Amino acid sequence: MRHERQVELLERVATAGDRLQGLHGDTSMVNAASAYCDPARFEIEQRVLFREGPVFFGLSADLREPGSWRSMTFDGIPIVVVRQQDGSLRALVNMCRHRGSPLVDPHHRGDGLRAFSCPYHAWTYELDGALRVRPAAEHAFNDITANCDLMSRPVAEKHGLIFVRASGDEPIDIDEVLGGAQHDLADFGIDNYVLIESRSDEWDLNWKFFFDSFSETYHIRTLHKDTIGPAFTSDGIIFEAFGRNSLSIGLRSNIRDEFDKPQDEWSIIPYGTIQYFLPPGGMIVHQLDHLEVWNVEPIGVGRSRFTASVYAPSEPKNERERNYMVKNLELLLHVTGTEDFIALEDIQRHLNSGALENMVYGKIEAPLVHFHTEMNKAVAGA
Ligand code: FES
Ligand SMILES: [Fe+2]
Repeated sequence: MRHERQVELLERVATAGDRLQGLHGDTSMVNAASAYCDPARFEIEQRVLFREGPVFFGLSADLREPGSWRSMTFDGIPIVVVRQQDGSLRALVNMCRHRGSPLVDPHHRGDGLRAFSCPYHAWTYELDGALRVRPAAEHAFNDITANCDLMSRPVAEKHGLIFVRASGDEPIDIDEVLGGAQHDLADFGIDNYVLIESRSDEWDLNWKFFFDSFSETYHIRTLHKDTIGPAFTSDGIIFEAFGRNSLSIGLRSNIRDEFDKPQDEWSIIPYGTIQYFLPPGGMIVHQLDHLEVWNVEPIGVGRSRFTASVYAPSEPKNERERNYMVKNLELLLHVTGTEDFIALEDIQRHLNSGALENMVYGKIEAPLVHFHTEMNKAVAGA
């Protein structure tokens, strides 16, 4: 992140007041609790946000080599993105043109794929989706004239980021999608990062709770009092909107130490959990010496799959360096898995009863207000 950008962000903190109230948003918000549990609303979100896209899919580092692939499912449509021999990407519908079998595991990744071979009757496709072989074709399928290549979908890659669209053929302009966030993101040199490890879990949560859990630091001093609580401030969070996306930076409690230094030595990097929310697909988090990426896949109105991945700025030099990165991922999953998502599952279960009409998001939760305003707009426009 450019130094002048870091200074600009730090100045907001320096002038925010003793309780960081200057970082707060302009307005609070009341949102219908049904946004988290109404199946009709969920259906619209699935269609307009996940099916019609574009959806943040991951980093270039997920698909380093020709034959590297990753699969995810959006509104039920299984998508596999695969690196081609020429370095470009293809997004294909992960369904065999014979009878619809998935060609690769629909929630996985891998390397070294030479062709897609269907596990059902062994139709085989090139990495670009072109049908190569079907057993017994000359006498069993010789009257078929329909196109039997895998269905292709729009995919784009820029600044080390990948976006896909699960339906239609409208191309994706990543800079337009990022809405200004690309200026910071490009500075992080995300293209050069290396995937260390990735883990998925399913939760009894509406997918929006993923964004809720990372959108405010107001809960840190209570929910995380025994883990990360002491190290971070709950008083405020840096927030900036980029269209539907946003930047939010959680701050360490000792951030004011930096203001004792001359301004040309200021850095926000050691003090900030720098989060770029890219709804609906997920988020990118810059931590001191690594990146974390989360992917969000709704399964049902009250069930979601969250995948967390950790990336290092370069290939670890030895096992110790790799283990350190894996430990970062494990700590993240420990805190979110035993504190955040567990607490949210209770909330989801109780919201499903219909007893609570509204949720309230305060000015101290500015990214939460922005996120839900944008999601409500997307749904209303549908
Ligand atoms: S479903 Fe794929 S070969 Fe039959
Ligand atoms: Fe949390």
